[in-house]
Amino acid sequence: MKIIVTGGAGFIGSHLCERLLEDGHQVTCVDNFSTGSELNILECQNFKKFTLIRHDVVKALPKNLKVDAIFHLASPASPNHHSKLSYLAMPMETMLVNTQGTLELLKLAKQNRAKFLLASSSEVYGDPKEHPQNENYNGNVSTTGPRSVYDESKRFAETFTAYFIRKHTLDARIARIFNTYGPRMLKADMRMIITFITQALEGKSITIFGNGKQTRSLCYIDDMVEGLVRLMFSPRTKGQIVNLGATEEHTVLEYARMIKKITYSQSPITFSEDLPEDDPKKRRPDIKKAKQLLDWEAGVNLKDGLSKMIEYCKQNL
Ligand SMILES: NC(=O)c1ccc[n+]([C@@H]2O[C@H](COP(=O)([O-])OP(=O)(O)OC[C@H]3O[C@@H](n4cnc5c(N)ncnc54)[C@H](O)[C@@H]3O)[C@@H](O)[C@H]2O)c1
Repeated sequence: MKIIVTGGAGFIGSHLCERLLEDGHQVTCVDNFSTGSELNILECQNFKKFTLIRHDVVKALPKNLKVDAIFHLASPASPNHHSKLSYLAMPMETMLVNTQGTLELLKLAKQNRAKFLLASSSEVYGDPKEHPQNENYNGNVSTTGPRSVYDESKRFAETFTAYFIRKHTLDARIARIFNTYGPRMLKADMRMIITFITQALEGKSITIFGNGKQTRSLCYIDDMVEGLVRLMFSPRTKGQIVNLGATEEHTVLEYARMIKKITYSQSPITFSEDLPEDDPKKRRPDIKKAKQLLDWEAGVNLKDGLSKMIEYCKQNL
């Protein structure tokens, strides 16, 4: 198949490109490198069936581009208010890639009668009042707070996708991705796990925003890629919205302690009052639908995943 992966030079996108190439597909990565990196796609460049297009997907791709399936992953994704690569630091780019960018890619999919997968986010649930979150929950999201540039634009990306499914019978689906971690996360985008690991390895304080009682569930990258591939290609997935994420839930403080232990770090764990506005207090997906529809659940054990990630950080950071 001819497959486009937008955001293919990013963390999840680069692993997905590699997997699709290994499966024998012809893969075109479309990326503007705003938060992605050339290093991420070094392995992909070894495949003859890999093409890179440097392009901002807010603008339409060439009309004559032939494609059978589009994975739309392009978007800044880090919530850390101290990172220059976060969606908070790139508000306009984030809103546009998820709205205008999604529209352009849906149009391309329609023109080619291609399959389409939107990488949405657990952030569409906001600071949830239901726990765990299932796909029918409509969320608790501020339309105007600082995080809304991401949360609301992902929600609108879903609206666009749902419209194309209804109006144009497009073969599209929506993945609501929950926190994912693994090799190739950038230190500079300062997401929780990479930050804790680098702080622990460098012997600096492991800094927790707030009291550390907020919970997160972390999915290892290999599991996420498997989930995305199954959601795109399994039968009966047209029009479906599916949570993808791990169900093992821990507090942020527990993650800090686990990382400290695995790295044998002497770093102190410190707390900062600087809790970002609208930071979700609880996060755990209900994945019944993914199990039923895709026969999928995250299989990589947390300790193994963290150990692999820590090894990667030791070699590469
Ligand atoms: N990693 C997670 O935990 C997580 C959780 C929920 C949702 N997601 C979603 O998954 C997708 C991938 O996330 P990630 O963690 O790999 O992030 P990432 O920042 O590593 O990758 C995003 C990629 O998109 C590219 N990009 C951004 N704007 C673009 C534009 N206008 N045109 C072309 N390319 C553009 C970036 O350069 C980067 O390579 C995102 O849509 C994100 O919202 C990720």
